[in-house]
Amino acid sequence: MAKRANTRPAGRVMFTGGSGKAGKHVVQYLVDSGYQVLNIDTKPLDNPNVRTLITDITDSGQVFNALSSYMGLHEFDPSLRPQQVDAVVHFAAIPRIMITPDNEVFRVNALGTYNVVEAATKLGIRKIIVASSETTYGLVFANEPKDPEYLPLDEEYDVNPMDSYALSKIVNEQTARAFATRSGYDIYALRIGNVIEPHEYANFPKFFADPGGRKRIMWSYIDARDLGEMTRLCLEKDGLGYQAFNVGNDDCSSDLPTAELLKRFYPKVKVKHKLGKYECLFSNRKARNLLGFQPQHSWRKYVKA
Ligand SMILES: NC(=O)c1ccc[n+]([C@@H]2O[C@H](COP(=O)([O-])OP(=O)(O)OC[C@H]3O[C@@H](n4cnc5c(N)ncnc54)[C@H](O)[C@@H]3O)[C@@H](O)[C@H]2O)c1
Repeated sequence: MAKRANTRPAGRVMFTGGSGKAGKHVVQYLVDSGYQVLNIDTKPLDNPNVRTLITDITDSGQVFNALSSYMGLHEFDPSLRPQQVDAVVHFAAIPRIMITPDNEVFRVNALGTYNVVEAATKLGIRKIIVASSETTYGLVFANEPKDPEYLPLDEEYDVNPMDSYALSKIVNEQTARAFATRSGYDIYALRIGNVIEPHEYANFPKFFADPGGRKRIMWSYIDARDLGEMTRLCLEKDGLGYQAFNVGNDDCSSDLPTAELLKRFYPKVKVKHKLGKYECLFSNRKARNLLGFQPQHSWRKYVKA
């Protein structure tokens, strides 16, 4: 995989949730980019270059302990002293509603994120990246489909979701912001769109056959490898304080032009600015402008329209 040159030497990253769907790709991307990674998860990750420290993030004691532990691979390494940690990337979560009861989604996500962000800042880890979600815009898991205030969705939007998963992510963004204010460190929240693993492009013809099927997510998608690149860019950018970034592709996961999607599915919604022919309604312009984010994996590379 072609990678852009690092803007500075890669460092040591504590990564929560690296055994999951998105995390395993982002962990590999960071390892390929030269980072040393320790995975913090309740489940092991099958990656010979990354050890998993089995840790429950809802237990603050375990989190403080894990974030201050030795990062190497083997118990007989020449030194087992903990090393300086450069960043925490926090992906561990229950990733939507309807997997566990609502209160458990909220408990694990809100408490887990509090524990990770508090421990990281109190241990002096100066860069923290937390996984938020496009669901914060309140459309994805609303009781019934609803119109947004405007499109495309951008980070200026007044987020006010009704479901417990998106609510947990809003609380997490506020937690991140509070600890950024308290510590003066950089904490960036990634409002991640629908993550697509390389093998999942096989599903796109089904998406195209049902154009309204992805209406609630604004036809957003983000290749897991592009999410890796976005994470790397955040690791290598300093001085932004607290920020939330949408993380989506440039275009929609539909073969229809954006104007046609708007006409068919959101005819009454105000459109904030002129859009490209296939431009996504989940805007990545802030990440492009502030971080130079340029997704490399459009579905058009992998699927015939
Ligand atoms: N997949 C998507 O499309 C998507 C979209 C937007 C946001 N996100 C967010 O991105 C992150 C990763 O999502 P994913 O799809 O990889 O989810 P996933 O469920 O595949 O992975 C989550 C990981 O967190 C771990 N985990 C859960 N509870 C834990 C706990 N108490 N302690 C330690 N580890 C725990 C799980 O074992 C798992 O490995 C999540 O924060 C999710 O909310 C995902």
